[in-house]
Amino acid sequence: MLTGGGDCPGLNAVIRAVARRLLDRGWEVEGVREGWRGLVEARSSPFGYREISGLLPRGGTILGTSRTNPFRLDGGVEAVLRNFEALGLDALVAIGGEDTLGVAARLYEEQGFPVVGVPKTIDNDLSATDYTFGFDTAVWVCTEAIDRLHTTAESHNRVMVVEVMGRHTGWIAVMSGIAGGADVILIPEHPITVEAACDDIRRRHQRGKDFSIVVVSEGYELTYASGEQRAVTQEAALDQFGHVRLGGVGEALAHEIEQRTGFETRVTVLGHVQRGGSPTPRDRVLATRYGLKAADLVHEGRFGRMAALHGDSIVDVSLAEATAELKTVPPGWYEVARAFFG
Ligand code: F6P
Repeated sequence: MLTGGGDCPGLNAVIRAVARRLLDRGWEVEGVREGWRGLVEARSSPFGYREISGLLPRGGTILGTSRTNPFRLDGGVEAVLRNFEALGLDALVAIGGEDTLGVAARLYEEQGFPVVGVPKTIDNDLSATDYTFGFDTAVWVCTEAIDRLHTTAESHNRVMVVEVMGRHTGWIAVMSGIAGGADVILIPEHPITVEAACDDIRRRHQRGKDFSIVVVSEGYELTYASGEQRAVTQEAALDQFGHVRLGGVGEALAHEIEQRTGFETRVTVLGHVQRGGSPTPRDRVLATRYGLKAADLVHEGRFGRMAALHGDSIVDVSLAEATAELKTVPPGWYEVARAFFG
């Protein structure tokens, strides 16, 4: 097995479950180091019962991770196939998000590579599953932060802008914003204008509330009534999967709000705190169920599949379906949040 892309609470719980079930069934298990890079460079080590002890609550990934894309490296795919054989492997469990599983889907389609997937990401943007593991923990961290920001916002009569992760979808912002009682939430899928956000804040203050909480998703583009849109990024360079590094929209939005409303405004960027540390009980359980399902798929030789959550059931779906497009926040969810704006 390997873990790829950004780390995420619950990765070690999946590793434990995959290994436990396969070891119990008489398989030998290997941990590949640092995502696809480990297969490009043939770096892996055997996993026994001792290696998986104590993993359930542990944050991060004991396998390490990377954003290596073998399809973007000269001879990368050939190296993966060659090393997979040289290491004597029969099947791969790839634990990752759209990028890592996108590679898995392509390797399966184009090379018949024996791989199954487990849907990981705090962003919750993978299709064909209701939830990815790690998302619940990120929402919990953000909600706790919003609760804390409420009390200091109220004491100082301030507007508090909270920037959360999520890349090009607003799942974390919407869910933590609803849970934390945010007064305005801005997300990439349904971009309300800066002017509308300021109107909501003013309306609230006219009703006698002297403070406001604004949650903004890092992928929100500053959108103006004129129709102009401005993306805020950390750097223009793209990673091996073609992503820009997002971040900074909170600061830009806070500046706009303060200028336009005259209310004192502060910014909190939650950043990688959302990904670190121990998974919530819900994520531990989901990760465990996903890991067992992935091991079952391997045991049954059902490759090209991904463990998924539909309602309360763990099912399997095709990797191609899961990675075909991003799962965005549906309008209905945003309406729930919007009912409390202003
Ligand atoms: O995909 C998970 C995620 O945390 C995104 O929400 C965020 O945009 C990105 O990874 C940050 O990546 P890095 O860890 O490379 O800064």
